[in-house]
Amino acid sequence: MTADAETLVRAKNLKVHFPIHAGIFRRQVGAVKAVDGLNFDIKRGETLGLVGESGCGKSTAGRAMLRLYELTDGQIDFEGVDIAGLSKNDLREMRPRMQMIFQDPQACLNPRMTVLDIITEPLVIHNIGTHNTRIELAKELMELVGLDARYLQRYPHSFSGGQRQRIGIARALALRPQLLICDEPVSALDVSIQAQILNFVSYDPNTVISSSPRCRIAGRG
Ligand SMILES: Nc1ncnc2c1ncn2[C@@H]1O[C@H](COP(=O)(O)OP(=O)(O)O)[C@@H](O)[C@H]1O
Ligand SMILES: [Mg+2]
Repeated sequence: MTADAETLVRAKNLKVHFPIHAGIFRRQVGAVKAVDGLNFDIKRGETLGLVGESGCGKSTAGRAMLRLYELTDGQIDFEGVDIAGLSKNDLREMRPRMQMIFQDPQACLNPRMTVLDIITEPLVIHNIGTHNTRIELAKELMELVGLDARYLQRYPHSFSGGQRQRIGIARALALRPQLLICDEPVSALDVSIQAQILNFVSYDPNTVISSSPRCRIAGRG
């Protein structure tokens, strides 16, 4: 394999500026340069950590990589395709390969959906599997993140913070993404739960979830 085939993501001169509006006409008077010229490469199987003080642009960079924010400038090559220039439809097709685990498990789970619906929603959206295979996969994912598959019919409020974060992880893993972006996935959790969650997050998408879930995800090889 060439060096480029191993590169999963390459960010070039990534910029995200948020406009500042003021006055009665809400004219733009400036911009918050949240991310201003960021460059990095991530190889397949590699983990990249972004470190910096609060407000320095870490979350913005992560969201921009999935194009949850539009880029002001720059390029993000994902498997060689510049996602900054993709149309909505093309982007939608890319989405299953890139997923995000958010900081606050409370805010990112719909309280009116059962855990089963939460975990299988990405599969439904992307039209993957049948009703029954989705349920089977949801059960496997629950066990993978250390939750009892019998809880699939429950709602998020009946779980603790750490368990909710595991549900968010199960959902993010449902599509077996190539790229998993974790935005402070454990900062809202107790220290004792943090290590457990971080173990799940070291995950290898090239493994088949259904064959031997537990050891694959926790151990990486
Ligand atoms: N949606 C937004 N609109 C305007 N400004 C934003 C928005 N999101 C983040 N910012 C600003 O961008 C900067 C970087 O924020 P953020 O990426 O959340 O930092 P970090 O995750 O490193 O703490 C901050 O100054 C923040 O106030
Ligand atoms: Mg942040």
